[in-house]
Amino acid sequence: MGEALLLRATALRKTYRTGIWPRRRAVQVLRGADVRLGAGEVVGLVGENGSGKSTLMQILVGALDSDGGSVDRRGALGYCPQAPILYERLTCDEHFELFGEAYGMDAGDVVGARQDLYDLLGFDRWADARVEALSGGTKAKLNLSLALLPDPPILLLDEPYAGFDWDTFQRFWALTRARRDAGRSLLIISHFITDEERFDRIYDLRDGVTVAR
Ligand SMILES: Nc1ncnc2c1ncn2[C@@H]1O[C@H](COP(=O)(O)OP(=O)(O)OP(=O)(O)O)[C@@H](O)[C@H]1O
Ligand SMILES: [Mg+2]
Repeated sequence: MGEALLLRATALRKTYRTGIWPRRRAVQVLRGADVRLGAGEVVGLVGENGSGKSTLMQILVGALDSDGGSVDRRGALGYCPQAPILYERLTCDEHFELFGEAYGMDAGDVVGARQDLYDLLGFDRWADARVEALSGGTKAKLNLSLALLPDPPILLLDEPYAGFDWDTFQRFWALTRARRDAGRSLLIISHFITDEERFDRIYDLRDGVTVAR
């Protein structure tokens, strides 16, 4: 892998097989997709609904096996899944504590990083609220924050701002730029073509392959 590359995926293939005979179905989602992510880059991954963006990202993360191809990665990775994975009965603070422990962070560092994220995304007032009481947008803020918590060198974000209001959307991009300027690399799945100027590069996922725009 090249010096400046943090993530390289080559010729990824994936077919989903569902159902049982005689209603067996196979959907070929990836047919040789490539992704490269360099240090200090913000790269977009766009494509229509069902084109395989989340599938591709899950393979990059290691949450899903591919049928072929390879993924090389240098450094720890933070992942923000499209559907928040949260515990209804735990508060925001408790989520940070739980994830901080799982990341092997110092308790003091968790408290500091948590406060920064509350301030940056503006959801401090929900610190003691259980997830079951949060709005969809606030859950999305927590979901994103848990990926950002340990400040990993590689961030893979699957439609992180789908539920955000305009102010939060702006805050998200300010936060993204700050991480990038600190040398972090981000791959962000997006629907909005209007975001084009916010990315250093964009991949279009079409017919199972990534096309550099
Ligand atoms: N676990 C699964 N089993 C079977 N088929 C699946 C599974 N997950 C996804 N698919 C199918 O694979 C295709 C790609 O799905 P994927 O979620 O990766 O698309 P996407 O580009 O992220 O879409 P969206 O923009 O709606 O989030 C779709 O046709 C979907 O129905
Ligand atoms: Mg998706």
